[in-house]
Amino acid sequence: MPQVLDMGVDLGTASVVIYGKNRGIVLDQPAVIAIDRGTRNILAVGEEAHRMLGRTPGNIIAMRPLQSGSVGNLELACAMLSTFVRKVSGKHFLSGPRVILSLPAGVNDTERRAFTGALFEAGARRTQLMERPIASAIGCKVKIGDTLGHMIVDVGGGLTEIAVISMGRCVVRDSCQFAGDQMDDAIIKYIRRKHNLLIGEITAEDLKINIGSATERQEQLYMEVTGRDLISGLPKVMRIYSDEVTEAIQDPLEALMESIHGVLEQTPAELASDIFDSGIILTGGGAQLANLPEAIYETLHIRCDLAQDPHETVAIGCGMTLEHWSEFGQYIGTRRR
Ligand SMILES: Nc1ncnc2c1ncn2[C@@H]1O[C@H](COP(=O)(O)OP(=O)(O)OP(=O)(O)O)[C@@H](O)[C@H]1O
Ligand SMILES: [Mg+2]
Repeated sequence: MPQVLDMGVDLGTASVVIYGKNRGIVLDQPAVIAIDRGTRNILAVGEEAHRMLGRTPGNIIAMRPLQSGSVGNLELACAMLSTFVRKVSGKHFLSGPRVILSLPAGVNDTERRAFTGALFEAGARRTQLMERPIASAIGCKVKIGDTLGHMIVDVGGGLTEIAVISMGRCVVRDSCQFAGDQMDDAIIKYIRRKHNLLIGEITAEDLKINIGSATERQEQLYMEVTGRDLISGLPKVMRIYSDEVTEAIQDPLEALMESIHGVLEQTPAELASDIFDSGIILTGGGAQLANLPEAIYETLHIRCDLAQDPHETVAIGCGMTLEHWSEFGQYIGTRRR
């Protein structure tokens, strides 16, 4: 019988990452889908659909079906998920793959059921849901079963999830919308206000990734960007400096620090003191912002470490749970179809 690929799936607002059991990461694509407006047929998902964002003719819709940590369009989110899973699961006759799925915090029960249904349609034999911070902690190789407190801060695209974990459970948990997308928005607004230049979301993200930094860089960098001059209405090229990007993102960063602070305030004293000793673990693609650990340390005086492969930790954690079921299976929130 052909091999069936059991998999851990991180359905994020910015990207979908899939870890195949005993294979490692097998898919890492933008969480974007493009469909025909009339027939509603799927035209593209992932990279290909991402290239269409903001440039589609009238008959095509290209969108991110999950935004700000919740589901904007459930039908398209399900279609995107099942297309990705079909892509990697291969052909099977008798039984489909077993899937461990991790979803954004803002997803409700009806949506959860729809996602498990979509996976069933895509051939999944069994789907189980895993809480994101738990998956992320396993993916970072945190000893989550011990009695010590660990803090995981996952800075994604639409959402930052902050959790204190002890004995394999989330003791305190909160999420806020100050993540990668909010930083991109703040950069767009700043450049419009300061330079009367309108740039697109992809340009703003490029600025953040290439020259952005949570604190001012020792050596100033710059990037040439093209936008629309709001006075002449014409395209214009302009040099943007790294200190400007740092200034632009200070508000969302401050809000992010406040959220972490809020979770620490609610954390039982013993666990808070463990976190003080062991530090905060940063995961998620947005956590790769230059100097973010240093900025958190300056504000909260707690050491902060960026996880290895921060953007993949959730999928890795789900996949490792499949690989080491006797060790991690107990941490799953079982919802069996
Ligand atoms: N080097 C980098 N510096 C700063 N931000 C980055 C970098 N690389 C990726 N990002 C940002 O990471 C975010 C995406 O992270 P990730 O893929 O973990 O999100 P997600 O898991 O899909 O979203 P969510 O967890 O909110 O559902 C985007 O906002 C992207 O711009
Ligand atoms: Mg994520």
